[in-house]
Amino acid sequence: MKIIILGAPGAGKGTQAEIISKHLQIPTISTGNIIREALKSGSEMGQKAKEYIDSGRLVPDDVVIGIIQERLAEPDCKDGFILDGFPRTIPQAEALDRMGVVIDRVIDIEVDDDVIARRVSGRRVCPGCGASYHLEYKLPEVEGVCDNCKDTLVQRKDDQPETVRERLRVYHEQTEPLKDYYAAKNKLFVVEGQEDVADTTRLTLAALEANL
Ligand code: AP5
Repeated sequence: MKIIILGAPGAGKGTQAEIISKHLQIPTISTGNIIREALKSGSEMGQKAKEYIDSGRLVPDDVVIGIIQERLAEPDCKDGFILDGFPRTIPQAEALDRMGVVIDRVIDIEVDDDVIARRVSGRRVCPGCGASYHLEYKLPEVEGVCDNCKDTLVQRKDDQPETVRERLRVYHEQTEPLKDYYAAKNKLFVVEGQEDVADTTRLTLAALEANL
């Protein structure tokens, strides 16, 4: 199954992608994670992306389209995948179509902007393995320490309130039009993001099984 997860920054795309990935045994491809890895490694692409990520803007289309094209050519994608954070603009969606990728379902996780601000401010991530936690909703076993690699958890730089406001503005302007794009193709399924990960997961899994 080839799935796209849409939603505002902090709506819970990554959380749901990880759960579906285990459930369906298909990989998750998160452009945000790939870009953050490139940033950490100091690669040329990472250097270029830094100013965009830090200011809450989107990385240019040609860069992310190149990332996706390369990643989808890898053997683990042949039986399906979950795209988390791609496409984010109409030109990115059109590029995916041109690559001949036929998406089975687009899950749009809807969460109000004020709830997003709260969720994102409580998020803490592991700089080592990238695992994501939350001060209220997803606590690590030991406060401030990653369960997997025992690194000290940190707040993402783009999770500062001012940058979150800019990310939301960019989302409404450039990414939200994708809902109409995929609704017109009869692929869109809307899930109301609940205040509990398990409740959202139930709705997401039902959306994957439902007839459109
Ligand atoms: P990216 O990493 O994709 O960030 P994002 O879309 O802003 O999404 P987030 O990772 O912030 O949130 P999420 O929806 O995955 O939520 P999560 O599950 O973590 O991109 C970062 C940047 O990279 C972009 O700003 C851009 O610059 C660049 N970029 C990436 N892709 C690009 C592209 N295609 N084109 C151009 N530029 C691109 O959940 C958030 C928090 O809430 C967590 O702490 C979680 O534990 C908690 N939570 C989750 N679900 C629930 C729930 N149901 N109830 C309560 N809490 C919950």
